Order: sequence, then C-alpha cells, then structure tokens
Amino acid sequence: MKDCESVGNVVPSLITALVVLWLSMGVCRSQLSTNFYANSCPAVFTVVRREVLCALKNDTRMAASLLRLHFHDCFVNGCDGSVLLDGSDSEKLAAPNRNSARGFDVIDTIKAAVENACNATVSCADILTIAARDSVSLSGGPYWSVLLGRRDGLVANQTGAGGLPSPFDSIDTIIDKFAAVGLNTTDVVSLSGGHTIGRARCVTFSGRLNGFSEDASVDPTLDPSMAAELQALCPQSGGDGNATAPLDRNSTYAFDNHYFKNLVEQKGLLSSDQGLFSSDDGEATTKALVQAYSNSGSLFFRDFVNSMIKMGSISPLTGSAGEIRRNCRVVN
Ligand code: HEM
Ligand SMILES: *[C@@H]1O[C@H](CO)[C@@H](O)[C@H](O)[C@H]1NC(C)=O
Ligand SMILES: *[C@@H]1O[C@H](CO)[C@@H](O)[C@H](O)[C@H]1NC(C)=O
Ligand SMILES: *[C@@H]1O[C@H](CO)[C@@H](O)[C@H](O)[C@H]1NC(C)=O
Ligand SMILES: *[C@@H]1O[C@H](CO)[C@@H](O)[C@H](O)[C@H]1NC(C)=O
Ligand SMILES: *[C@@H]1O[C@H](CO)[C@@H](O)[C@H](O)[C@H]1NC(C)=O
Ligand SMILES: *[C@@H]1O[C@H](CO)[C@@H](O)[C@H](O)[C@H]1NC(C)=O
Repeated sequence: MKDCESVGNVVPSLITALVVLWLSMGVCRSQLSTNFYANSCPAVFTVVRREVLCALKNDTRMAASLLRLHFHDCFVNGCDGSVLLDGSDSEKLAAPNRNSARGFDVIDTIKAAVENACNATVSCADILTIAARDSVSLSGGPYWSVLLGRRDGLVANQTGAGGLPSPFDSIDTIIDKFAAVGLNTTDVVSLSGGHTIGRARCVTFSGRLNGFSEDASVDPTLDPSMAAELQALCPQSGGDGNATAPLDRNSTYAFDNHYFKNLVEQKGLLSSDQGLFSSDDGEATTKALVQAYSNSGSLFFRDFVNSMIKMGSISPLTGSAGEIRRNCRVVN
C-alpha cells in the first residue's frame, strides 16, 4: 500500500481541462458546484486520486468497476450513494449488481482516507463521482471538473436497481430508460462508450452465441470469428458462468474510442452495444453517432464528459436533505 502513495500524480492535459471546464459551465441543472469543498476539504481531490491510483496498481479493472458504480448509483433514486448501502434490501442484491458490481472495498478505503483528511464532510455520492472521473482519466480518458455537493440518501431501492438498463433490452427501451432520468440519445451512445474499459460475464451475452433465433443460431450482427472465440469461453454446458470477456477486446483497460471502432466491425460484446450500430432503433441516430465517435476520439471524449456531468447531476440531494454518511455501507 505505501509504495502506491509514492507514485507521482498523472497530470491531466491543461487543454483538456480547460475545454472541459468550458463545457461544464454550460450545464446548470442543479445546485452542485465545482468548488463545493474548496474551504471544507480542499484535500479531497488529492486523497481520492491517490487511493484510486493505488487501487488500479493492484487491479487495472477497478477503473471500470468504479465507473460503473457511479452509473448504477445515479440511475437509481439519483446520485445519492444508495448503491453502496448494505442489507437484505440493498441494491447490491438486485440482478444487475449481484455477482457483478465490484469496488465496494475500494470505496471503503477511499472513504476512510477522506475521513482521515476531513472528518464528516464529504458524501459517499461525491466520492463515487470523483472516483469515476479519476478512473477514466487514469485509464487514458478525458479529465474534467466534477460538480460536487451531493448528500447521501437514507434508503436503497432494490426494485429500482432491478430496472437498470439491461443488455437484453432493445435500444428503444434503453433510450426510454435514459429519457426517464433526463438523458437523451446522445447520452445513451456516449455513455455506452464507458464500455471501452472492463469486462462482462458470459451470462450477459451468451444468448447471442447459441440458439439465437429460429433462423440463425448465432447473432448475425456478431463477427463470426469473435463468436467462435466467445463460444469457447462460454460453452453451452460445463463452463464457468462467471467467466468474463473484455467489453473492448482491442484495448480492454485503455479509455479510448476503440469500443466504437469495434461496433462498426460487428465486434461489440453485448447485444445492447452492437444494437447501437446495427439496429434501426432510435431512428438510427445511434448509428450515426457510433460512426462519428469511431472516427473521432476527441468528439467521443467531448460528448462523454458532457454526458457524465449530466448523469452526475441526476436528482442530487442537496442543502440539508439526506446526510453525510460516516460509513458508506450504512446510514448514520
Ligand atoms: C446503455 C445501457 C447499459 C447497459 C445495458 C449496460 C450493461 C452492462 C453489462 C451487462 C455489463 C457486464 C456486467 C456483468 O458482467 O455482470 C456492464 C459492465 C460495465 N458497464 Fe455497462 N451498461 C450500460 C451503460 C453503462 C454506462 C452508462 C456506463 C458508464 C458510463 C457503463 C459502464 C460499464 C463498465 C465500465 C463496465 C465494466 C465493469 C467491470 O469490468 O467491472 N455501462 N454493463
Ligand atoms: C487486489 O485485487 C484483488 C483482485 O484482483 C483483490 O482480491 C485484493 O483484495 C486487492 N488487494 C488490495 C490490497 O486491494
Ligand atoms: C468525526 O465526526 C464525528 C461526527 O461529527 C464525531 O462523532 C467524531 O468524534 C469525529 N472524529 C474525529 C476523529 O474527530
Ligand atoms: C424505487 O424505484 C422505482 C423505479 O424507479 C420507483 O418507481 C420507486 O418510487 C422507487 N422507490 C423509492 C422508495 O424511491
Ligand atoms: C442531447 O443533449 C445535448 C445537451 O446536453 C445536446 O447537445 C444534444 O444535441 C442532445 N442530443 C439529442 C439527440 O437530442
Ligand atoms: C459466480 O460467483 C458467485 C460469487 O462468487 C457464486 O455465488 C456463483 O455461484 C458463481 N456462479 C457460477 C455459475 O459459477
Ligand atoms: C486493435 O485494432 C487494430 C485495428 O483497428 C488491429 O490492427 C490491432 O491488432 C488490434 N489490437 C488488438 C490487441 O486487438
């Protein structure tokens, strides 16, 4: 652990930071602000980044896992740290998270380090927001100024978490689920680009490999050689149901636009990934955006940052609502 802390900071490009600051100023959806902890906890950014870097040195995939936790937090009752709560009614036990969501121990470590620097000041929801940003940036993606000032919720919503966007949903259904939290089709495509890092279990895509339809046993929008590789990883019987494949087989832990290049080549892993390019849902807006992002990494980064700020602003608790949780796993 100690030798992690001596590693130098990865300094984000000034230009990216300025572009992103400009972008974030255009978004005024809530009472969140970039300087919320300027007086009460100026060390929060250094502390969180140091702990995320340390976690990534041990487990590169953790960047993906932390990014996904922020998404799963924000989509259920807003960004209120609800995904972190333990208990029989927790969101952790809902189907999209069970045996799937990871990083809760890392959040505990970050929270302990933040409490050590500024006791009882920074919410778990804000820690998730900063950790997601740092995960993206430390994986080679963009850096941006995050809006802060969220407070932690007092309840989990297991039923709500069960309704998170699913890899088995049609693109139209996914567009509807994003619209329900104020996100549009551009946000669907840019945020799906989060799948440029991390992995998915066989159960989330094996329906594409065997008995796909009456006409085709393999999903015709899946590249045949990739299908053969995945069939070997995920056999119809006797396989490890927890085996995982990379969401971006080209650069699994690098935050780049290769996810979109894969989709153009019919090498998306999940049905909900490939559908962004191959289905006619969303009046094919999604296809045009996939094409554009596959051609321009900087366009993808710009739109991803804008969409992350929008996602991070879903129904925050502010002012005196909620609380600053002492332990992210339990309400005070
Ligand atoms: C558009 C709808 C989405 C669907 C249907 C979806 C579905 C999935 C599924 C099925 C997995 C694998 C889970 C498992 O193996 O159990 C996954 C992983 C992941 N998702 Fe999504 N997702 C969506 C949107 C997002 C968004 C908006 C983000 C963040 C911006 C995101 C970030 C991730 C990451 C980083 C992983 C890998 C996690 C890891 O390796 O631990 N996803 N997603
Ligand atoms: C390092 O990562 C592994 C999983 O890859 C995990 O089991 C272990 O607890 C982690 N160690 C630390 C110190 O975080
Ligand atoms: C931290 O804050 C909590 C709640 O305000 C308080 O009970 C506790 O004594 C504080 N701990 C330290 C070390 O100051
Ligand atoms: C839980 O989430 C569902 C679906 O989003 C919502 O209808 C319900 O009101 C939520 N329950 C609570 C207690 O927030
Ligand atoms: C989605 O919203 C953004 C603003 O956040 C806007 O720039 C973009 O054009 C919208 N996309 C669609 C398809 O409406
Ligand atoms: C996957 O891992 C979980 C947690 O370790 C375990 O409970 C489950 O039985 C495993 N599933 C399969 C199909 O091996
Ligand atoms: C990544 O994609 C390029 C072409 O876009 C290909 O030449 C290269 O072999 C791929 N790398 C990996 C590791 O798959």
